[in-house]
Amino acid sequence: SQNEFKSMLEAHALAANFYSHLLLNTVEGEEALQYLEKRGFTRERIENYGIGWSLHDREALSGLLKRKNFDMKEMERAGLCIMKDDGTGYFDRFRGRIMFPLRDDNGNIVAFSGRILHGSKQEAKYLNSPETPIFEKSKILYNFHNARLNVRKTGKVILFEGFMDTISADRAEVTNSVAVMGTSLSDTHLLKLKRIAKELIICCDGDDAGWEAAKRFSEMAMKKGMDVQIALLPGNMDPDDYITQYGGEAFREKVIGNPHSFMSFMMAYAKRSKNLSYENDVLQYIHEVLEELSLRSSPVERDLYIRQLSSETGISAEALQQQFIKMAGQQS
Ligand code: UTP
Ligand code: MN
Ligand code: MN
Ligand code: MN
Ligand code: MN
Repeated sequence: SQNEFKSMLEAHALAANFYSHLLLNTVEGEEALQYLEKRGFTRERIENYGIGWSLHDREALSGLLKRKNFDMKEMERAGLCIMKDDGTGYFDRFRGRIMFPLRDDNGNIVAFSGRILHGSKQEAKYLNSPETPIFEKSKILYNFHNARLNVRKTGKVILFEGFMDTISADRAEVTNSVAVMGTSLSDTHLLKLKRIAKELIICCDGDDAGWEAAKRFSEMAMKKGMDVQIALLPGNMDPDDYITQYGGEAFREKVIGNPHSFMSFMMAYAKRSKNLSYENDVLQYIHEVLEELSLRSSPVERDLYIRQLSSETGISAEALQQQFIKMAGQQS
């Protein structure tokens, strides 16, 4: 109901203030604050993004919400609290984590993602709010509200897989970026982006999961009729790692400023799993590239990439062209 919505939003705003205060002004938050500073977060950026700290105490937030007369059943439905096994009360969902508020399109805080300070095999690195009446994961993109104006201005939107990357991009003066929470991108996300930008630059992590995500995301976005390009990172780096190591200018110019077309990305993708000094790998590579190329209709693209394939493999462009015609013929 309207009332439930309203009090859930109020509770999230209260929780975010509470977490922020704990991070910035208390001894309990010091270690987390140092951690963030080491990762390049300035105090200003911490405040702008509303980042906070949740205590290890099991009932820090629950106690506060209760004192403020929030309906605790509702707070459980809002994802902030969890009922104790014996049913005698509630404890906090988020404990001992760096808290990142997630906002809806109007800038209201509707959920949190909490990062553990130290790596641990038992716990997930990030704990997220569950789906609630105010938080539908398939609709929310991190930083959408904040980036919207700059996206419209530039006609371009950059998509990352992690919100840490969006915050880092901001540090690199790239202000038209949003992030999915991990590797799920929905059609609803894409339609939202399409309404505000024609061009999409996908910039996923440089690890295997990131390459798979980049392929999946770009195929989805092309289906929606967006102009898609893919920015690639060296090694296993993610955008945040890259910016920390090479700086914002390099990120703007070499990564975001030099994105690949989908076809060029696909060639890099196909090459990743192969060693082109092996004959079999070369043949397989040629097959994959020609197959992808047969899905494009542009003769110019065809010519361009066949010539590129030729120089990479040492096979003549004529032979590749013949092979291509043969393959395309078999498909129809
Ligand atoms: P990453 O593992 O790439 O996180 O996951 P990251 O942004 O590089 O984080 P740092 O730099 O290690 O702090 C990308 C996204 O996947 C989701 C989060 O939304 C994260 O932003 N994720 C990841 C989870 O939800 N849970 C996890 O345990 C890990
Ligand atoms: Mn990743
Ligand atoms: Mn990452
Ligand atoms: Mn990481
Ligand atoms: Mn990272």
